[in-house]
Amino acid sequence: MSDSRPTALQLCPLSAYLEAGLNERFETIRWYELNGGEQSKWLGQRASAVRAVVTGGHVGCANDLMESLPALGIVAVNGIGVDKVDLDFAISRGVRVTTTPGVLADDVADLAVGLVICLLRQIPAADTFVRVGSWNQGDRPLARKVSGRRFGIVGLGLIGSAIARRLAAFGSVAYTGPRRKKVPYAFHADLNALARVSDVLVLTCPANSSTRRLVGAAVIDALGPEGYLINVARGSIVDESELIAALNEGRLAGAALDVFEEEPNVPEALRASPKVVLTPHIASATVETRTRMADLVLENLDAFIAGARLPSS
Ligand code: 8YV
Repeated sequence: MSDSRPTALQLCPLSAYLEAGLNERFETIRWYELNGGEQSKWLGQRASAVRAVVTGGHVGCANDLMESLPALGIVAVNGIGVDKVDLDFAISRGVRVTTTPGVLADDVADLAVGLVICLLRQIPAADTFVRVGSWNQGDRPLARKVSGRRFGIVGLGLIGSAIARRLAAFGSVAYTGPRRKKVPYAFHADLNALARVSDVLVLTCPANSSTRRLVGAAVIDALGPEGYLINVARGSIVDESELIAALNEGRLAGAALDVFEEEPNVPEALRASPKVVLTPHIASATVETRTRMADLVLENLDAFIAGARLPSS
């Protein structure tokens, strides 16, 4: 019996819930499990069957893949980042690109605040200290206080605003972004100026050509040797080599990073540094949020197949 479902390429691992939803609707090909040779062979035989690509924000969809799928109509991103999808190219090929806006801001904000506290209070190192039995040899060195700090937020969108609301309970909040907003936080048009008046700088802006390596030596030095950097946005926004140099040279007190330049490869210099807290791009990775994201991905795909208006393009 022939399979009447349309074909979709799945470019990265997804939750079992989302995979089940995809499999109900599509013959879903786990593209990331095929090697280069297998992918070329598959395309040679089946490329014209593919109507949809489903991918993660951190994976996106390369132009050459879009180009090789003549019937592709939608790239459904399970996330909000579109830095790895060339939107102009997609439009030029009539391919719709959808994301999952509005459902992950709370999780990302919760993680950002968790990272601030983990970093300044050194919770991961304190946990290890107890586990390995070091407590018997004495106390840990003192950590740094969170309450009363000056927090600077780079990008006051949905996520930045959710972080600001939470951090306002701990200290003062200021922000930078393309424009001043009607919010009760101080605005700095210039990132260096914001970094100079911040103890903790939190990155939440989108990754694009104007934010690429936005945080380099100048911003780090404006933040200063007592300053901390938190990144829950994208690795490309930070010049990782400059960050490593600044941490090694004592020009920055510490950093907490959920995202990296070349995930999942995290430089040894960061992995070995006692001044950092590292998490593996988990800001939206809760059962609740990934379920809501999956529902949005599926709603977009259903609307696409039905020829209806896409809920979140
Ligand atoms: C996810 C993200 O980690 O929304 C984004 O752009 O980076 C994430 O929340 C990823 O997209 C999961 O597929």
